[in-house]
Amino acid sequence: MTAAGLPMEVPAEGLPTRVRIHEVGARDGLQNEQTVVPTEIKAEFIHRLAAAGLPTVEATSFVHPKWVPQLADAEQLFPLLDDLDPQRLPVLVPNERGLDRALALGARRIAVFGSATESFAKANLNRTVDEALAMFAPVIARAKDARVEVRGYLSMCFGDPWEGPVPVAQTVRVCRALLDLGCDELSLGDTIGVATPGHVQTLLAALNEAGVPTSRIGVHFHDTYGQALANTFAALQHGITTIDASAGGLGGCPYAKSATGNLATEDLVWMLHGLGIETGVDLDRLTATSVWMAEALGRPSPSRTLRALSHKE
Ligand code: HMG
Ligand code: MG
Repeated sequence: MTAAGLPMEVPAEGLPTRVRIHEVGARDGLQNEQTVVPTEIKAEFIHRLAAAGLPTVEATSFVHPKWVPQLADAEQLFPLLDDLDPQRLPVLVPNERGLDRALALGARRIAVFGSATESFAKANLNRTVDEALAMFAPVIARAKDARVEVRGYLSMCFGDPWEGPVPVAQTVRVCRALLDLGCDELSLGDTIGVATPGHVQTLLAALNEAGVPTSRIGVHFHDTYGQALANTFAALQHGITTIDASAGGLGGCPYAKSATGNLATEDLVWMLHGLGIETGVDLDRLTATSVWMAEALGRPSPSRTLRALSHKE
């Protein structure tokens, strides 16, 4: 570590020079908190994350409020962010009702969220995998007509708490289907954190073979088994340049019991900056934001980097 609390910069061969971090703390993180965070605190959190240089800060979800009560204030929250470019503020939208709500408030970037497995599709969307894809079809078509960018999340890409290991071909099929419906970008979710680096590289290679270019793939790792950074490094070696992370390591997913611990943005930034990979993120400002959020939530962050940096004096 340098005196300023930054990692020593020592590049490794064959990695991208710049990565776009897709920050999910305000959505994926807060949706999983027991306590419902007040709308004004969420708005401040998102502003602070944007000010820390995170280019994309997922803001909220336009889902059924009974399914995710923590984000039931989407209509109140989104207008509080109107000083930020809506291109920086993607929102989750499961169906046309959600799209109507998001478009009415001026959202310019949305994400649908499918599953590689039937069990999670049922638990998360009350649909089979194919019924969920059919639900997304008009959402994506209408978003494209409105020139709104669409991300396609896919959960349980590696393993599923009910079904066990997920065959690579099964994940590839649903990824392909999401792209064929018109998604601009995919985010491969290791929702229960069971992936290991070889599995990541095998899936990425299989996606390329199925005609999915690396430039359209993002990765979304969970640190449940301590593998998130190793998996991220494997993805970087494959040329991935979009990486999801959650400030302070907030959150998991309310419909997947064992899904704890999104990759912490601080841990990711520490590794990327150490590798000399640009992110545009100011680690000090990010750390201060996550410390502030942990205080607002009344519990410590699981991020190792955050703990190390906030105790350095
Ligand atoms: P459903 O019960 O099948 O809904 O839920 P429905 O289509 O039968 O409609 C029932 C009622 O809900 C209707 O009202 C609709 O209008 C209303 P009624 O006519 O009975 O008065 N409704 C809505 N209201 C507000 N906003 C909406 C909406 N849609 C319908 N958008 C539904 C289906 C998709 C709505 C429900 O399952 C749902 O909201 N699920 C969301 C679950 C969720 O947000 N999960 C977390 C995100 S995924 C995730 O976190 C994983 C990820 O982070 C990656 C990873 O880590 O793996 C992305
Ligand atoms: Mg997640």
